[in-house]
Amino acid sequence: MFSIIKYTFIGVITYLFYLILEIIFPPFNFPKNIPTIPFYVSFLGAYTNLDQADIYNLYIREKLEKYGAVKIYFASRWNILITKPEYLLEMFKNEDVFAKSGNHIKIPGSVLASYTGDNVISAHGELWKLYREVIAQSIQFPDLDPITKNTEKLIQIINDRIGSQKQVSIPVTDILQKYSLANVTESILGIDYKVLDGEKSIMHEKIKYVKSQIFNPFFLNFPYFDNFPIPSRLKARSEVTRFREWYGQSVIDNHDRQRPNSAGTKLVDALMDEKLTEKQFLDNAIILMVAGHENPLLLMLSLMYVLAKYPLIQETVRQETDPAKPYLHSVIYETLRMYPPLGMIINRCTTRTTKLGDGIVIPKGVYCGYNNFGTGRDRNVWGNNADVFKPERWGCEIEEINQKYSIAKKTANLPAFHGRKRACLGEKYALYEVKNFVCAIVGEYQVSVDASWNERITPAGPICPLGLKINFEKLVVA
Ligand code: HEM
Repeated sequence: MFSIIKYTFIGVITYLFYLILEIIFPPFNFPKNIPTIPFYVSFLGAYTNLDQADIYNLYIREKLEKYGAVKIYFASRWNILITKPEYLLEMFKNEDVFAKSGNHIKIPGSVLASYTGDNVISAHGELWKLYREVIAQSIQFPDLDPITKNTEKLIQIINDRIGSQKQVSIPVTDILQKYSLANVTESILGIDYKVLDGEKSIMHEKIKYVKSQIFNPFFLNFPYFDNFPIPSRLKARSEVTRFREWYGQSVIDNHDRQRPNSAGTKLVDALMDEKLTEKQFLDNAIILMVAGHENPLLLMLSLMYVLAKYPLIQETVRQETDPAKPYLHSVIYETLRMYPPLGMIINRCTTRTTKLGDGIVIPKGVYCGYNNFGTGRDRNVWGNNADVFKPERWGCEIEEINQKYSIAKKTANLPAFHGRKRACLGEKYALYEVKNFVCAIVGEYQVSVDASWNERITPAGPICPLGLKINFEKLVVA
């Protein structure tokens, strides 16, 4: 009896020791000619006051600028993270070798994966083609009218907050989330959830609640533990299911048959025609709503921050008389470079042993990803002033600016929207939306960063100023 206990104990200790070694050291077959980021760096955002820029500058930047790729621990496994544009191009071009493999495959039992499932962003091969066939058109050719109407509503909401005061300080995340959500649900999904009408929106409240359940730093770092019957995670999972069911039913009940090209109608038709299963319908309906409002929201928050932080830039955008708005374009592109909404994405898995550049040999079955924050700030790519917010680097005339932007995307110097075959389908829509947003804000208000706001970006995950607070002062019409 005693020896059984003894051997069980030794077995458990050995297993734990093995698990710890697996976290501390990358697997033996990972390339030796690129550096390793110490495993604890991945947890600093959750357990210290450092933000992503601090962590990047202190622990990652030097190695990535020198080697263009590193080994990094993230989401319960070791991965290869790439920033060098030449390597990125190889990854983006070789879709079959660096195959998309989203959360539903990478961390299958996780609560996060149960939220977004298998969708057009994460799928590979035939499934990706099927999802794209259903929804690509509605994203690429949205109804843009709701954006104009919602921008007026946004201005009205801010004006109401200002009331008779000279200026008002507003934590902007919630308001802008509603604005972005209203835009995508009406313009692309074709459903009006009345997000901007009234004090509280059911849709907005539900999304905030379900996100608060999903995003827990410990379980994001160790999604493996989502597989255990831990009460808080069981609750999170059931809240996700509840939200998905509510949302899916709302798309079925409220999609607009007068708008046959809206994503709502396309998805419901595909479900009825049994082109998509119920789960595929839900997964794709969710990802449209999530990517379609979260990503533009992040960009709007960063834009708001740079306008408020740099009064001269704000004034130049305001004074721009050229209807093509070259300076505004430069400000947006520069914001995408320095604050790419999706800072790091690791969702590709090698389908065979392959090579990056001349000599980085990556074995089969390794997760690879890109770091937009790193590429955007790489001094080899953007020069020694890569850390300076400098819209002028994009040029003066609109043709020159747009051409530089286009080249930066093609060469993967600016992978904020990915690029190539798997490029973001919502780029044009998002750029239209944020241009409208910036013009409306600078046309109505003088904005500045509230002195009480602690200037930092998010500690982990998507990139934006954390909890941004802005002072709005109505412009005096001369
Ligand atoms: C500023 C806003 C946005 C940014 C920065 C952004 C960025 C990205 C990135 C980096 C990817 C590639 C993801 C990966 O590597 O797995 C992507 C893909 C995608 N995005 Fe966006 N996105 C934005 C807005 C939108 C919007 C508004 C929509 C509309 C619903 C959208 C729909 C998609 C879709 C469908 C894909 C997958 C394309 C494919 O693989 O065929 N995005 N986006």
